Amino acid sequence: MMRFKVSLLAAGAALLSPVLAQTWTDCNPMNVTCPADPALGIAHEFVFNSSSTVTDAFNVTNGALTYGTQGTEFTVAKRLDSPTIQSKFYIFFGSVSVIMKAAKGQGIISSIVLESDDLDEVDWEFMGGNITHAETNYFGKGNTTSFDRAVYYPVATDVTENFHNYTIHWTSDTLEWYIDSALVRTLPYAAANGGHNYPQTPMTVRLGIWAGGDTANNNGTIVWAGGLTDYSKGPYTMYVQSAQVNDFGGGKEYAWGDKSGSWQSIKTVTCVSPSIS
Ligand SMILES: *[C@@H]1O[C@H](CO)[C@@H](O)[C@H](O)[C@H]1NC(C)=O
Ligand SMILES: *[C@@H]1O[C@H](CO)[C@@H](O)[C@H](O)[C@H]1NC(C)=O
Ligand SMILES: *[C@@H]1O[C@H](CO)[C@@H](O)[C@H](O)[C@H]1NC(C)=O
Ligand SMILES: *[C@@H]1O[C@H](CO)[C@@H](O)[C@H](O)[C@H]1NC(C)=O
Ligand SMILES: *[C@@H]1O[C@H](CO)[C@@H](O)[C@H](O)[C@H]1NC(C)=O
Ligand SMILES: *[C@@H]1O[C@H](CO)[C@@H](O)[C@H](O)[C@H]1NC(C)=O
Ligand SMILES: *[C@@H]1O[C@H](CO)[C@@H](O)[C@H](O)[C@H]1NC(C)=O
Repeated sequence: MMRFKVSLLAAGAALLSPVLAQTWTDCNPMNVTCPADPALGIAHEFVFNSSSTVTDAFNVTNGALTYGTQGTEFTVAKRLDSPTIQSKFYIFFGSVSVIMKAAKGQGIISSIVLESDDLDEVDWEFMGGNITHAETNYFGKGNTTSFDRAVYYPVATDVTENFHNYTIHWTSDTLEWYIDSALVRTLPYAAANGGHNYPQTPMTVRLGIWAGGDTANNNGTIVWAGGLTDYSKGPYTMYVQSAQVNDFGGGKEYAWGDKSGSWQSIKTVTCVSPSIS
């Protein structure tokens, strides 16, 4: 959802910061020297059935989660609610399959985002007013100058009433999006601005919900989100059952070798010495 970041910031970062909860970076390695990224290193299925299974592996970066019989609940109950989590780990190429049910409600966005330190991004987004389609998108190195990357795909049954399996399979050659194990989109490396804007640096996994249809957002965001959000019709809840994550990099850490943002510059550290403090 990075495309609206600049204009939202211009509109007032303090008020709108929850909206941006998923597409920020603490340290951009294209500009400065940043610490190495802790790696997942393995394949693991995170079952979203309790607070501890989620918070062991994910930081809650905004709002609060609840846990119910359908899994972990991300709810917008009032203005500026935007519960969001970010993995404590990074993957350096890999696959992510999230079993989830999007929130229903005009202007409400449920999302699965892979985000790197230099703002490479891969998205699944669900507009709560559109129960038939899922949006796929990507960004490379925070480049928002072209808005033709979003592509929508039909899902077999109502995305707000049924759990589906949304998968991203990401290598240095291709980025693939699957719905319930059916391949819907393939992005070859070279198709992303000759590879320059191909997502290729270690990613965290972020899940969350926010109101794209809030009146404080710019018109483009509100139109994209499917219209204004009516908070009196809420609460609006996204449910996540599980996330199967495989880190193809297999490291302990991924270190930034230079400021190029290229995958070849990332060093996979397989042995981390204990810190002395
Ligand atoms: C980081 O570098 C990018 C690309 O060179 C530049 O557009 C951006 O303004 C820089 N950001 C900061 C915080 O210096
Ligand atoms: C959550 O799921 C895991 C893995 O299936 C299981 O071992 C655990 O008992 C479940 N916990 C709860 C609270 O249901
Ligand atoms: C998760 O939160 C901890 C504590 O604030 C922080 O040290 C760590 O860097 C965070 N992880 C990520 C990937 O942001
Ligand atoms: C849902 O999105 C698809 C793809 O953009 C579009 O064709 C369809 O009309 C949308 N449905 C609604 C109800 O907006
Ligand atoms: C989700 O789809 C991926 C890709 O086909 C598959 O590997 C994975 O096993 C599926 N997950 C579940 C829980 O069905
Ligand atoms: C951003 O993307 C556009 C469209 O692909 C491209 O023309 C432009 O060169 C890119 N800019 C940077 C700084 O990579
Ligand atoms: C918002 O954008 C839509 C679609 O481009 C347009 O029809 C509408 O008039 C715009 N509304 C405002 C308040 O600018």
